[in-house]
Amino acid sequence: MRLKIVGSAAGGGFPQWDCNCRLSRAARAGTGGLRQRTQSSLAASADGVGWVLFNASPDIRQQIAQTPELQPAPDAPLRSTPIRAVVLTNADVDHVAGLLSLRERQPFAIYASARVLAALDANPIFNVLERAVVPRRTLPAGGELELCDAGGQGTGVRIESFAVPGKVALYLEDAGRPEADYGSEEGDTIAVRVAACSGRSAFYIPGCARIDAALRERLAGAACVLFDGTVYTDDEMIAAGVGRKTGARMGHLAMSGEAGSIASLAKVKIGRRIFVHINNTNPILDESSAEHAVVRQAGWEVAHDGMDIEL
Ligand code: MLT
Ligand code: MN
Repeated sequence: MRLKIVGSAAGGGFPQWDCNCRLSRAARAGTGGLRQRTQSSLAASADGVGWVLFNASPDIRQQIAQTPELQPAPDAPLRSTPIRAVVLTNADVDHVAGLLSLRERQPFAIYASARVLAALDANPIFNVLERAVVPRRTLPAGGELELCDAGGQGTGVRIESFAVPGKVALYLEDAGRPEADYGSEEGDTIAVRVAACSGRSAFYIPGCARIDAALRERLAGAACVLFDGTVYTDDEMIAAGVGRKTGARMGHLAMSGEAGSIASLAKVKIGRRIFVHINNTNPILDESSAEHAVVRQAGWEVAHDGMDIEL
């Protein structure tokens, strides 16, 4: 099983279009040690020919252009794609907007939770993907399944999905219910376990608000965990003067701190631990920063676009 990080940044990408902070400025200027990154997406292939995308980011056109594996093969029909299916882990703009760029009557299957599919169903713009060509399939909560293409042909990519603590998409928040996490429900954010025939597993969790004992137990023994790396400190967007929200308010667990992801997973046996979905305010984006060093010393890798993972 091959995995490829198609986009390693959080919503907005790096640099973000309107961001004038030190990190985005440096990335824009091409400063060493600060790689530009596109928005959150992962690809998986069992045979190196057909690919499953996990999340369709607004940068998908650029991502396909910079990823030969996702381009039409030389001997393929005049219009074709190796993308057989797209799995959505939530309904956030950075994870679903790319679907609109795949609107060329090209068959592939969409898989998501009932909650996320309801968000697509409620928004008529997604009808550009005609259901007879691009079927929408509900992921069962728990249980391993093989993902299939639009015609029902197996892709060889087997996954299990399960709900994780998270938040409903920003544009679906119920402002009147802050006490109920703004109307968030189970299934608004899911994690995916990708299973290789070798028996090894990789977990893809680009959004996660908390790590509890049950999640630690699930992750124990995994060959690879790709985890929410949105913010290093919970209040970093406020401290940087660019926002009013904490990571927690956005449904993202910070890396640092006693309950942060680094400490929470420190004792869990994991082959490779890799941060994905990295926000443009996160200091680890600067490879010369103290925070980058802390993350590396704690055994974490920092994902970059194009990173390959063999499972
Ligand atoms: C998130 O991950 O919290 C979202 O992508 C934020 C957003 O929609 O801008
Ligand atoms: Mn996001």
